[in-house]
Amino acid sequence: MSKVVKVLKLRPTTGRVGGNRNSRRALVAGGAGFLGSHLCERLLLDGYEVVALDNFHTGKKYNLNTILHDQKFTCVEHDVVDALPSGLHVDEIYNLACPASPPHYQADPIHTFKTSVIGSLNLLELARRHDAKIFQASTSEVYGDPLVHPQPENYFGNVNPHGPRSCYDEGKRSAETLFFDYSRMFSLDIRVARIFNTYGRRMQPDDGRVVSNFIVQALRGEDLTVYGSGRQTRSFCYADDLIEGFVRLMNAPQAPLHPVNLGNPVEFTIMELATLVIEYTNSRSKIVHRPLPVDDPRQRRPDISFARENLGWEPRISLAQGLARTVEYFDALLYGGHLVREAAVL
Ligand SMILES: NC(=O)c1ccc[n+]([C@@H]2O[C@H](COP(=O)([O-])OP(=O)(O)OC[C@H]3O[C@@H](n4cnc5c(N)ncnc54)[C@H](O)[C@@H]3O)[C@@H](O)[C@H]2O)c1
Repeated sequence: MSKVVKVLKLRPTTGRVGGNRNSRRALVAGGAGFLGSHLCERLLLDGYEVVALDNFHTGKKYNLNTILHDQKFTCVEHDVVDALPSGLHVDEIYNLACPASPPHYQADPIHTFKTSVIGSLNLLELARRHDAKIFQASTSEVYGDPLVHPQPENYFGNVNPHGPRSCYDEGKRSAETLFFDYSRMFSLDIRVARIFNTYGRRMQPDDGRVVSNFIVQALRGEDLTVYGSGRQTRSFCYADDLIEGFVRLMNAPQAPLHPVNLGNPVEFTIMELATLVIEYTNSRSKIVHRPLPVDDPRQRRPDISFARENLGWEPRISLAQGLARTVEYFDALLYGGHLVREAAVL
């Protein structure tokens, strides 16, 4: 991995670039993050001019290595909580700016909340000024510890408003409120995705998410930490599948009148995931149990009927395929690709 990172300066823009569909400009807030960097790559491939805006809190400049020198790509270091740089003329906005893993969003909960609320307001105002379509990366955390299973979009959730996870969960819920109020008051074209647990290349080894935790622990030969009994369930979507869902939602001819669940409906227990990771890394690690964190949801599975029927979208990459690719990524990142034996990645 290259240590050389360079952030391109914002190129002042005075108007829309070109007049055809291929020269539309997209702004990706949170563009240096795990999902944001994949989205920037995809939009460039689709012919967009792309501006990534990021404060590099959890995002990494090296996530942008593959696109940094693309003429149609610009990266701006900026915090969405602050007034946005002038001269940003955009046709489409994707708001992914927000730390997504508990250790990171809990490190400064007030800033996390501001990021969701003030950041969304700033981007919604930008969208309004330019009559741009705007996408919000919401989350399955809006369902909290759900009492309805699987979770359909019309379920209002079971969320603790004052616990250690609330800065994230309630911040995202408030952002949804703002998006729909801008749509109702100003007829803004909004697209809101509720993203369920997604994993893949470019997750950070230390970001505290279950898939990356397990893989890194297994590669290091450390015990895998399972919180609680491990019977709690999650559904895991591979990043490439999710990005396809983003693009389909953004390009749907009609804006859905509600948030849309995007995630993998195949449910696994955390113990099943731990066992699979040990298998795919060929590791001798053991599984150890620790107390469950406060407000950890017991089960999660998206009802993706709406996305299936209206966007023709559903995940294509199995957990086995996705884990193999992710293990390969972490092995290359941490050990130059030496640790994982052929059996683990094929
Ligand atoms: N990955 C998932 O499983 C998942 C699930 C649900 C929702 N989401 C949402 O998707 C989005 C992207 O998540 P991710 O997994 O790529 O996480 P990530 O932490 O890798 O990406 C977030 C990006 O936003 C940037 N950022 C954070 N605060 C900012 C601020 N104030 N101003 C500018 N940039 C800021 C970070 O530096 C980072 O690049 C987030 O909004 C997250 O809430 C992700």
